[in-house]
This record gives sequence, structure tokens and C-alpha cells, in this order.
Amino acid sequence: ETGAGVIAVDGPAGAGKSTVARRLAAELGFLYLDTGAMYRALALKALHEGVDLRDEAALASLLSDTTIDLYPAPEGRVRVIVDGADVTDHLRSPEVNASVALVAGFASVRSEMVSRQRDMARQGAVVMDGRDIGTFVLPDAEVKFFLTASLEARSERRCQELTRLGYDVSLERIREEIQHRDLLDSSRPYAPLAMAEDAVLIDTTHMEVNEVVARMLAICRHRLG
Ligand code: CDP
Ligand code: CDP
Repeated sequence: ETGAGVIAVDGPAGAGKSTVARRLAAELGFLYLDTGAMYRALALKALHEGVDLRDEAALASLLSDTTIDLYPAPEGRVRVIVDGADVTDHLRSPEVNASVALVAGFASVRSEMVSRQRDMARQGAVVMDGRDIGTFVLPDAEVKFFLTASLEARSERRCQELTRLGYDVSLERIREEIQHRDLLDSSRPYAPLAMAEDAVLIDTTHMEVNEVVARMLAICRHRLG
């Protein structure tokens, strides 16, 4: 059961979900919940502890011993606290990028994550972003968005972002990584990346962030009354 004022934002890597979801939440005075960060947090911990990333039972058991808290931080950002330690700055590393979709592909991992995500949304007044929010986690969300952009635009955005964060990256490598992760996310049998039938599709290839946020905000204000 979903509370009042629940907004779902889904789409492939680099479509701008977290950037616009965060801004939208701030404009509406809602809480922003980044579900990708939860899968990244588990992948990071598995890498640290040397857990075999192909071992579903080991990953599920690791998750059951792991607390993941999403804390609002200034500018609508989120700090990700795993077992009490702030791991936010480690979640976007190439190692995590390369393993997160594997970890997220397992049904038992997903069902535990989904149950935690539903608990977080129960209070309402949230914007949640991910891959399966509108289709699976919060099918009763009042507003659902599906953001896309061309592979080229998404790769360029991610390249600029990672360069800003200080990583030494190549556009070619990022394009391959994104394409690979999109394929894994869209083809997994359990809650794959997909657009909900009742989602609003926004192709952001030729749009500025402000434009995307303004369009989404107008739709939300109309629907939420
Ligand atoms: O920021 P980016 O779009 O690159 O990734 P993210 O939103 O942080 O998600 C990282 C990965 O977590 C995705 O590629 C999926 O494999 C997984 N994920 C998922 O399976 N379901 C979600 N609701 C959110 C993320
Ligand atoms: O969460 P997701 O992987 O979908 O994308 P993101 O982490 O928000 O990264 C998108 C990047 O593209 C950010 O650096 C944004 O500033 C930029 N961008 C955007 O989000 N939307 C546009 N319409 C244009 C650029």
C-alpha cells in the first residue's frame, strides 16, 4: 500500500534520473530516495568482503546483515550510510559500476531491496528513482516518469560527471559500460528495466536539466492537485 504523494522515476543509466528526481523532490518538499544507491552499496560491501558476485545465496545473506540508510543532505543530495559508515563517495567507482548490475540481477537480493524500498515510501511525499519503481516497487505511485536519452548523450553526461569527480575515464569505455549495464538491467527475468504503461515518457536528449524539471513539476502539480 502506497502513501499519498508518491512519484516514481525510472530509466536507463545517465538519463538524468537522480539529477532531476532530487530537484523535483526539493521543489515539492518531498524526500528523495535513490534506489540505485542501495544496490551500489551492496555491491561495494560485497567487493570489500570478497564475496563471490555470482553467488546469490552469499549476496542475499550479506544483505540480510547489512543496514543501508539514505540520509538527506544539503542541496537535496543523499548520503548513503552502510552499517553506520558513510560510503557515499565510493559508490560511483568503476569497480562498483562493473558489478552492480550483477548483484541487482538476483531475485532474492531484489525482493529484500524492494521490501525495504516500499517501507521507505509508506509515509508518502517521496520521489523514488530506479529501474523498476513504476512497474514493480510502487505500482500505485500517483505519478510515474520514464526518462530516456540517446546512448551518446547519456555517455557524454556520465563522462563529464565522472571527470568532475576526479576519475580518469574515456568516453568509449563509459559508452560500453553503460550499454552493457542497460542490457543486463533490461534483460533480467525479475523486475527488469521497463517503462510502466501509465508512465510519462520524457526524452531528455536535447533538453536542459531545468527544462526537464519544469515539465515534470507541472505534471506533478496538476496530478497531485
Ligand atoms: O546512476 P546510474 O543510472 O548509472 O545507476 P543507478 O541508478 O545508481 O543504478 C545502478 C544499478 O543498480 C543499475 O544499473 C541496476 O543494475 C541497479 N538498479 C536496479 O536494478 N533497480 C533499481 N531500482 C535501481 C538500480
Ligand atoms: O541517475 P541517472 O543515471 O539517470 O543520471 P544522473 O546521475 O542524474 O546523471 C545525469 C547527468 O547528466 C548529470 O550530470 C546531469 O547534470 C546531466 N544532465 C541531465 O541529467 N539531464 C539533462 N537533461 C541534461 C544533462
